[in-house]
Amino acid sequence: MRTSDFATSFNAVAAEYAAARPDYPPTLYDALEEAFGRSLAGAHGLDVGAGTGKATRGLSERGVQVTAVEPGAGMAGQLRTASPGVPLVRASGDALPFADASVDLVTYAQAWHWTRPEVALPEALRVLRHGGGLALWWNTNDRTVGWVDEQANRLRESLPQHGAHDITRIVGHHLTALEPALQPVYREVTWRRTVPLATHLANLATHSQFAVLDPEETRPVLAREEAIVGELFPDGLVEEPYVVRLTYLPRPVRLTSD
Ligand SMILES: C[S@@+](CC[C@H](N)C(=O)[O-])C[C@H]1O[C@@H](n2cnc3c(N)ncnc32)[C@H](O)[C@@H]1O
Repeated sequence: MRTSDFATSFNAVAAEYAAARPDYPPTLYDALEEAFGRSLAGAHGLDVGAGTGKATRGLSERGVQVTAVEPGAGMAGQLRTASPGVPLVRASGDALPFADASVDLVTYAQAWHWTRPEVALPEALRVLRHGGGLALWWNTNDRTVGWVDEQANRLRESLPQHGAHDITRIVGHHLTALEPALQPVYREVTWRRTVPLATHLANLATHSQFAVLDPEETRPVLAREEAIVGELFPDGLVEEPYVVRLTYLPRPVRLTSD
């Protein structure tokens, strides 16, 4: 299976994604604002790989003048329905149809790993004004919690591609190798949400490792999780612990390529 199959898999599960995936906690936007070094209110932003608009709406609520950028038809359709007033451009992060030095903030929520960083990084830096920055974040399962780690191990055994797009292997120092002038800022935000078991299972099924497979293959995996997690949370409400990992890259005053 090709990476592009995974990158486009969300479109088939876009409605479930909109309903079951978590939004981002307010503390994430606090951490972003702190890294950004000034108020988010009034900043001009591009939320790239915007999907159904979860981060786009979070940024907008903090006052960012945000344009959503999303290549996939299914995901873009959900965004349009939920947030008809948000400007939306159908494009990939590998070729941003925006002018040089035109925005203060470029964000990728849970989406940077689908780009080709050697192309998407210069693109983001090109459209950023001085004083702006590129923010990449991922909402990851908090595997310091026993049952979450055990679930991840079970899924890794059952689904051949589970963990194949583990972001921790992609971000970090890899970007400074591409642009040595970058000085990344890292932040972590822990948080939890409590959802019905059905939402927990639906959330699992929206991950690309599930979405690329035939339902016949994933049904027994989800049934097993329903039994195990249902026993752990007998009242039917699952407390999911998360860590949002944020990497903020201020646009260097001078790029190596300048
Ligand atoms: C896991 S979803 C994240 C959606 C949203 N940002 C959120 O936080 O819920 C990943 C999104 O990246 C999009 N995507 C895939 N390839 C991309 C690329 N090369 N550039 C930008 N976005 C891409 C997918 O269509 C999908 O909507």
